[in-house]
Amino acid sequence: MTDQGSASGVYTASADFIANAHLDAEGYARMYEASVTDPDAFWADQAQRLDWIKPFTKVKNTSFDYGNVSIKWFEDGTLNVSANCIDRHMLTRANQTAIIWEPDNPATPSLHITYAQLLENTSRMANVLKAQGVGKGDRVVLYLPMIPEAAYAMLACARIGAIHSVVFAGFSPDALANRINDSEAKVVITADFAPRGGKKTALKSNTDKALFDCSDKVKCLVVKHTGDQTTWIDGRDIDVKAEMAAAKPYCAYVEVGAEDPLFILYTSGSTGRPKGVVHTSGGYLAYAAMTHQYTFDYHDGDVFWCTADVGWVTGHSYIIYGPLANGATTIMFEGVPTFPDAGRFWEVCAKHKVSQFYTAPTAIRSLMGMGTEWVEKHDLSSLKLLGTVGEPINPEAWNWYNTHVGKGKCPIVDTFWQTETGGHLITPLPGAIPQKPGAATKPFFGIKPVVLDPANAEVQTETAAVGVLCIADSWPGMMRTLWGDHERFEEAYFAQYRGYYFTGDGCRRDEDGDYWITGRVDDVINVSGHRMGTAEVESALVAHEAVAEAAVVGYPHDIKGQGIYAYVTLMNGIDPTDALRKELEGWVRTEIGPIAKPDLIQWAPGLPKTRSGKIMRRILRKIAENDFAVLGDTSTLADPSVVDDLIENRMNRG
Ligand code: WTA
Repeated sequence: MTDQGSASGVYTASADFIANAHLDAEGYARMYEASVTDPDAFWADQAQRLDWIKPFTKVKNTSFDYGNVSIKWFEDGTLNVSANCIDRHMLTRANQTAIIWEPDNPATPSLHITYAQLLENTSRMANVLKAQGVGKGDRVVLYLPMIPEAAYAMLACARIGAIHSVVFAGFSPDALANRINDSEAKVVITADFAPRGGKKTALKSNTDKALFDCSDKVKCLVVKHTGDQTTWIDGRDIDVKAEMAAAKPYCAYVEVGAEDPLFILYTSGSTGRPKGVVHTSGGYLAYAAMTHQYTFDYHDGDVFWCTADVGWVTGHSYIIYGPLANGATTIMFEGVPTFPDAGRFWEVCAKHKVSQFYTAPTAIRSLMGMGTEWVEKHDLSSLKLLGTVGEPINPEAWNWYNTHVGKGKCPIVDTFWQTETGGHLITPLPGAIPQKPGAATKPFFGIKPVVLDPANAEVQTETAAVGVLCIADSWPGMMRTLWGDHERFEEAYFAQYRGYYFTGDGCRRDEDGDYWITGRVDDVINVSGHRMGTAEVESALVAHEAVAEAAVVGYPHDIKGQGIYAYVTLMNGIDPTDALRKELEGWVRTEIGPIAKPDLIQWAPGLPKTRSGKIMRRILRKIAENDFAVLGDTSTLADPSVVDDLIENRMNRG
């Protein structure tokens, strides 16, 4: 293989790569043009990658018109998502590995689960759910480690038409309870413990705590994964493995409408309450499968590894649904990049001969700091392509990834997308689109990005432009609504820029028409590639009895991308001690989860507010960024002197 070439910061895939790729530049241009000029014809054709029970006759029926937003694709077609991910591969792939499970502890053997075994285990799980009265349209919450049962449970829900909602195992009992209640779930599936990096999180005990705040009708299915002892409530708790072993090994799949919900996934927004993003069956699966094939240039026989957790959308689309719909071999990794040592990712790549490797920039940055010897120890010759997701990648990390992991031979796909979008929106399709370190580059098929001026909502028509990123028309993989709150859905995504889907991100488009994502323009921050609403952290802080008021902003962090900076005003008479600071950190961990723990807490006797009482976050952001020389207009502040105090006692002096 020849190296991918670079001319002034632009990288093109090697001739060998292009010769074997699904796409070249001309192919991309032709398909993209078709996708935006005649979306009906384009997507009718692409949807043939799925097996339909009743074929659709209508393709696109969508409106971004605020007040009447409605998104339907393939609406009169019927299918089953589980059958598309499993059953239809049985004739040709029954004995092919569908999922390679790599446990936290490398001394534990990995599992190779074939499509035939996946069918049997998913069926058994579906029968267990049915025995608990779960049927079409019912909600099932999953709070699980990265274990095969998580995949069985997702696919089992899809098989019987139930709607799953996976809650990341790092979330607290409170966060879990909120999601069980908001989705009105009948069942929660959890495990005794979740091993990660040699430590264990007590999932069952967290679930017990959460269920105190939920209806007593909610059943608790427990996977005995580590086998450690837990509490057990007879009549409510059910031993999943025992029930699966006793259940029938086959479960027929049900027919669902293309627009029936497949899953709800809660994500952070700019207001306090997490949003229940709803994805439906037909359009989502077609889009997940298509992006998996083209973005990663997936070919039969490749081994695909996405290091995300199934608790995030990346795990949904690129560990489970996209790869399995394509009959791929997909890796599910229970552990962390640094356990037992900083070579774990590369050891696993070598062990399973991984072809495509997909991770977050934050992981690359933290491994980069540990030296190249951890990479060099392992044989990475199976790698053909690398990917990143979740946050912008800085050029240093991109170069390190390219040189030390990809050995200068692997295209890097920087994939920009969101929980809401179901699959990739903007990414350099390998072989077709040249890469620039830090740029997401060009839109995927069917995606029409527009850059708007946030001051007047005008569409920027020049090629080179800066502004907020919106999408002008619907694509099959996008969310349909927020669970139980269509009005909030319209408000959050379609009210600000009429006629457009608003991503919440800022961007720059360069002279070549390539898109560079510059980060959120709303009150959402991106911590280690995880979305966190500043309002969520604030409401956790003010729930503590010592706290009168709190304001949270992001600030640049070398490893995490953004860190969490909290300004806290204490109740009268409370002393600002280091012990209290520790206590508040721990408090946020238990209220939301470890990912929400503030990195810096500054005691703020007062917060900068306008005369009408609105906190001026712009000023707080500047101080947190240690960039307070030009604070802009502070004349509207009720008490400008608070700013001097905040600057003097700032926590970030880096
Ligand atoms: C950010 C993750 C720059 C962005 C799939 C977006 C990115 C948010 C990229 C969605 C990227 C994601 N470059 N920024 N390649 N990918 N983002 O919902 O701010 O967890 O709005 O979905 O992550 O995060 P979410």
